[in-house]
Amino acid sequence: MNLRQSLRVNSIALLVACGVAFSFPAAAEDSDYASYRELLNPIPALPLIPADNSITEKRVKLGEMLYWDRRTSKTGATSCGFCHHPAYYGAEPMDRSVGVFGEIHAANAHTVLNAAFHTSQFFNGSAATLEDQALAAIRSHVASRSWPEEVGERLNRVPGYRDLSQEAYGRPLDEETIGKAIATFMRTLITPDYPLARWLNGDESAMTEQQKRGMAAFVDRGCIGCHTSPYFSNFSFQKFEIDGGMHHVGRYKVTGDENDKFTYKVPSLLNVAMTPPYTHAGVIRDLPTMVRVMGSKMLGTELPDDEVADITAFLHALTGQIPEDFMTIPVLPIGGGEGDFGPDLTPSTKE
Ligand code: HEC
Ligand code: HEC
Repeated sequence: MNLRQSLRVNSIALLVACGVAFSFPAAAEDSDYASYRELLNPIPALPLIPADNSITEKRVKLGEMLYWDRRTSKTGATSCGFCHHPAYYGAEPMDRSVGVFGEIHAANAHTVLNAAFHTSQFFNGSAATLEDQALAAIRSHVASRSWPEEVGERLNRVPGYRDLSQEAYGRPLDEETIGKAIATFMRTLITPDYPLARWLNGDESAMTEQQKRGMAAFVDRGCIGCHTSPYFSNFSFQKFEIDGGMHHVGRYKVTGDENDKFTYKVPSLLNVAMTPPYTHAGVIRDLPTMVRVMGSKMLGTELPDDEVADITAFLHALTGQIPEDFMTIPVLPIGGGEGDFGPDLTPSTKE
């Protein structure tokens, strides 16, 4: 707490101690929100970096190229960026993803922004690290249906990739370097500059009055119990059953425990205002409805309209700036005899 904040807390304590009646004016003074400052923190400027995969410019570059390269998939149809696109804040606009053969995934692609801070990846928590997650996405029978070895073999034929991998990791592309490079790129996809963070750092005008009321409601109603600061998730698994959401059994797939059926990792709410549709299955289209559903299903409360509007406004204060690097798509190296995605791999649409 900085000096100004502690002075404010002390003066409130003094007023209360002196028995001064404390009524909240229509436009509350910022000091009325001092107790909320105590409960909330801005996200760090950098995620933890594993000792065996330090961040270098070359590794970020390699990871960025692989992120966009559709040659990482079986048919050349998909890449990470195909489903997690910056135009949609690292997420996608459809309910559930479409895979390499046009099949429908059980889940909506949630944002990659700030995934570097999560303690586990995927709604069922099946990947512990970003390195594992990137390889799991490539192997996924829906997302890419490819094999890291196959991708390595294909891309090592491209001189630009072979050279960059040598420079970045001292060897050609293989399972380990592909996972590490993509994970490194994802560690740069963070959004530490958002209105709530600026407000917490002392800029009182960074949030509107309505957003501050929404922040108070978010805490007082108990949303914060699962969506804890600073990532707005405690990354626990919680039961959530909703029509259209049953294609995905949740944590059960990892543990095999009946109690874990239809439990999902609490999603981070950073940038949530920019990433509809909502829930693991993308079945809720807009944020006010999502807030209302959370109130009734998770807290057993029908939130009044004005509170839904306030909380929704607050969630907009979690929208950060997309990193510049994510907004510019690289031109990818060519020259490896690209033609090994034969038509035999793609079901024909001919009549
Ligand atoms: C066909 C679309 C598709 C492709 C391609 C794809 N993803 Fe995903 N991604 C998804 C879906 C759907 C989910 C949610 C799955 C789940 O959690 O059950 C997901 C989840 C994730 C998550 C976890 C987010 C969280 O909050 O837990 C990360 C990180 C991620 N993907 C990164 C990647 C990377 C990196 C690649 C490329 C190697 C990739 N994805 C390729 C659709 C895709
Ligand atoms: C008991 C834990 C818990 C509480 C309390 C809770 N949530 Fe959630 N929240 C979850 C889980 C779990 C999901 C993911 C559900 C899914 O994807 O199927 C979720 C999803 C969301 C989403 C959608 C995120 C996305 O990207 O799809 C929003 C927005 C949200 N919650 C806001 C709130 C608000 C606002 C409150 C308070 C009114 C609240 N939550 C209370 C556990 C909780």
